[in-house]
Order: sequence, then structure tokens, then C-alpha cells
Amino acid sequence: MSYSRRGFLTTVGATGGAGALFATMGALGLAPTAEAAARTPFEPPRPSDFKLTGRGAKKVVVLGAGIAGLATAYELGKAGYDCTVLEALDRVGGRNWTIRGGDRVTELDGSTQVARFSDGIYFNAGPARLAQWMVTMDYARELGVELEVFTNSNAQAYIFNERAGMTAPVRWRTAKADVYGYVSELLATAADGGALDGKLTAQDKERLLSFLGGFGAIGNKASGFAYTGGERRGHAVDPGAGEQPGTPLLPVPSLSDVFASGVGQRFSFELGYDQAMLMFQPVGGMDAIPKAFAHAIGKHRISLRSKVTKITDLPHGVEVEYQDKTGRTRKITADFCVAAMPPHILARTPHNLGPDVQAALATPTVTSSGKIGLEYKRRWWETDEDIYGGITNTDLDLSVVWYPSYGYGGRRGLVVGYYHNGANADSYAALPHPEREKRAITQGMKIHGAKYRDELATSVSVAWKLQPHIEGAWVGWPSRTGAYQLLNKPAGRVHFAGDWLSYMIAWQAGALESARKTVTELHQRVLTD
Ligand code: ALA
Repeated sequence: MSYSRRGFLTTVGATGGAGALFATMGALGLAPTAEAAARTPFEPPRPSDFKLTGRGAKKVVVLGAGIAGLATAYELGKAGYDCTVLEALDRVGGRNWTIRGGDRVTELDGSTQVARFSDGIYFNAGPARLAQWMVTMDYARELGVELEVFTNSNAQAYIFNERAGMTAPVRWRTAKADVYGYVSELLATAADGGALDGKLTAQDKERLLSFLGGFGAIGNKASGFAYTGGERRGHAVDPGAGEQPGTPLLPVPSLSDVFASGVGQRFSFELGYDQAMLMFQPVGGMDAIPKAFAHAIGKHRISLRSKVTKITDLPHGVEVEYQDKTGRTRKITADFCVAAMPPHILARTPHNLGPDVQAALATPTVTSSGKIGLEYKRRWWETDEDIYGGITNTDLDLSVVWYPSYGYGGRRGLVVGYYHNGANADSYAALPHPEREKRAITQGMKIHGAKYRDELATSVSVAWKLQPHIEGAWVGWPSRTGAYQLLNKPAGRVHFAGDWLSYMIAWQAGALESARKTVTELHQRVLTD
């Protein structure tokens, strides 16, 4: 039997989606490569789109200068749409917020911190890492935002599960050597002993044993496939010259102790599609992205400190009422509106979009998250612990410690002393900043010792639930039907955009993809209305 190529591709396309289709085309030599980018295709609106339609670019008011709002105005602007962006804060970016010396952090409890960071030090309080497959990389290229590697996993960083009974942190490399080693020992023993004969051919078994030998660095059959440690674990004294071959890091914990420590439970993180190395960051701070958008849109189109107070959908347009920076109420009318604010803030904003839209806006649950940026007088993680970037993972309430992926070998540096969400974020948020710092330091000292306290220069913390006009880190949907689907459609002349309307919540890429979808739909509407 033979398939026609076209018939075969149609079948693959129908059952496997575009990704499978492209991969198959690649395998057949029909696509440029088997792994062509799998992003949703997007054609930005162009002025020439209007040529034959007798229609023209319309006026659009965009609510919110977060990533979704900025991308909306930027893409519509390419075709000459007359966009105005209203932003409640005094900066663009929304949750994309880079804090530097002199910046103020005011929270809803009325507290204000003034960042005392040194020159060149920055703290990405919101997004801080980009995956290579995300559309954010394309925007960085298009906008001229320089990128560098963000180290999301590092064999030199630690794992510390205190509640599991660990008394000292272990390096990721050591944990991996031990877990992979013992798992390999067990699997090799079972396979060789015939326990998996129902699943493995003789050749499968041979290949599996050969794989496990390298994967786990285990002994041969004669040794019972024993895992006995080895240089993968690291050294107590590193290899050197002459008579210094290196002193192994000992003792090797027992299999039972390794599993009891729970270190292996951390490994899945770095396999995540959205978290796997390599990852990237803009040089000098994540806010390079919103700043570049704002520049491209034109600053005169962005009205800061302008808080939306009412949205009215009209038969032939939209009227938006807002409070400007002087406190005066103003009105703006436009042909369309793109509401790119957080859903829970929109839900509190008076509008005439109807009870279903109101109920839908109130549906997602808001997640808390917080981060603290700790500036140190000395880069002790590099000089004393040989850690250059990456993340230490713990079961402490700080969750993680991030070492900076910039400024290596310099004088000072900024460590993220916690980045947590849910209950941990809420409990830290409830504290005034000095207490947050104290608690974070007490916890972090369990990993890094007294220098973690003694060499601290200054710190700033952000509790996203307490950030004015944002009031949360991200949202979650109980389901992707109903409310989610409703808001993925326009309500009259009001369209919505944001990461919360994507399958990449809590990623700028989600906001960007959502903006592209909304721009495409709005433009189509203008061309065909
Ligand atoms: N996207 C967010 C992160 O990477 C949640 O931490």
C-alpha cells in the first residue's frame, strides 16, 4: 500500500496539529527543518491592508501598559491605528518591573521602601527568565533588546530540604549523582534479574544496561551494578597539579537516605518545557522590553498615572473615563477598546458589558507571589562557593535562592533571597519589609551561614498582592471553558488581552500571544465590519 504524500500530510495535519505536520514535513524534506518554530503564526496589520477595503485604521484605547497592552498598541500602530494607552502606574511594564537604586516600592498597606541598590545593580521583581521558544525572544530581536543567558539550573547550586531531615545543603551535582546512581543500580538489578522480561527483549535489556552504566555511573554486573559514588559527586579537594588527584566528596549516603532526603523531587523542574535551559534575560534588566515597546509606540501615546474608572460600550464606539495624574476625571472615546488590565481589577471597574462578562472577570483566582532582592557587599557565592548564577531549591519558606546571571566577578551583586507563592508569599506579605528581610536572612543562613547576614548591604521586597493596580502575581482558571472562552471574545467593542487569556499564564509570552490574537481579531473586524 502506498500513501500519496499530500494525503499522508493531510492525515498528519488533521490528527497531530500543525506542529506534527511541520515535523513530518521536515522529516520528508519539505519544510526548512524538522524543528521549525512551533509558535502560532502572526501577520502584523499593515497599512496596505486597508487599500482595497475603503476602510481606514481606527482609534483604539488600550487599558493598561503591561506587556499585553504595549504589544497591542505596538502591533496596531504598525498599520496606523491611532492608539492611546492608559496606565494607572507611573511606569510602563506592569508586572515586568526592574527595581534599581532610587526607585520606590509602595504597597497597599501604605508602606514605602526606597531602593538603595548600588549603580549597576538591578532586581527583576517580576518576570526574570525567557524560554527560547517563547515569542518574547522574537520581540526582543525586533525591538533591539540585547539578551544574555539566564542560568536557571546550575550543578553548583544547592538543594536543601530541611523538613525532609537534611542537615546541610547538597550541591545539585551531588544529588543527581546519588539519585541517578541508585536508580540505575535498582533498575539494572531488576532488568538483569529478569524482573522486566515481560517488557524488554534481550536486546532492549542489553541496551538498557549499557545506558544505565553511563547514566548512573554504576559498577558492572560482577559488582552487582553497585553505585558507590565517584567524581560526579564533586570533590572535597579539587584535582590539582603534581600529586593532587582530588579528594572525593565523602561519605556517599545510603540509598535509603538519598530517597528520604527528597532531593530527587527537585529534578523535574529543569525538564519543564518552560523552564529548561538555556534560558535568557535582557541585559541590564527585564524592563528593557517594556521600555523598547514604549519607545516604538511613541511615549506621547501612553498616558501614565491614568486610572480607568469606567468603561462604556456604545453602539458605535467606546467611552472610557479615567482619573488623570492631577486627579481630574477625563473621558476618551475611541472606535474600540482593548482592556489589558488584570481581570480582578477590571471586575471592580464600573462598565456596561453585562452580568456575564462581570461574572467571567470575577472567575479566576488570584495567586500571591513575592520576591526579595538582597544586595551583598561581596559576591561570596562566587568567591567562596564557586556558584556563578543558577538557583538553590529548598523546602524552606523562602523556596529558592537565585544567584545573579550578570556581573560575574564584579564587586557587589544581588541575590534573590526568596521567590515563593501561595501561603509563603502571603505570610511574608503580611510583614513589614524589615521583618521580611530578617526572616529571609534567618532562613538563608541555613544554607550559606553567617555571611548571608553579615555581608548584606541592602534589600527591597515586593509582595505582588500588595502592588497598587496589580494586586496579584497571576491568576488561575477553574476551567478553560465558560468564563475563559467568553473573555477570549470581544464584549461589544471591548476586546480583552493578557497572559490570563492564554495557556502561558505568568509568562510575558502569554501576554504577547494574547495581544497578537486580539490584534488579529480586531483588525479583521475593522477590515470586514
Ligand atoms: N513564569 C514564572 C516563572 O518563571 C512563573 O517563575
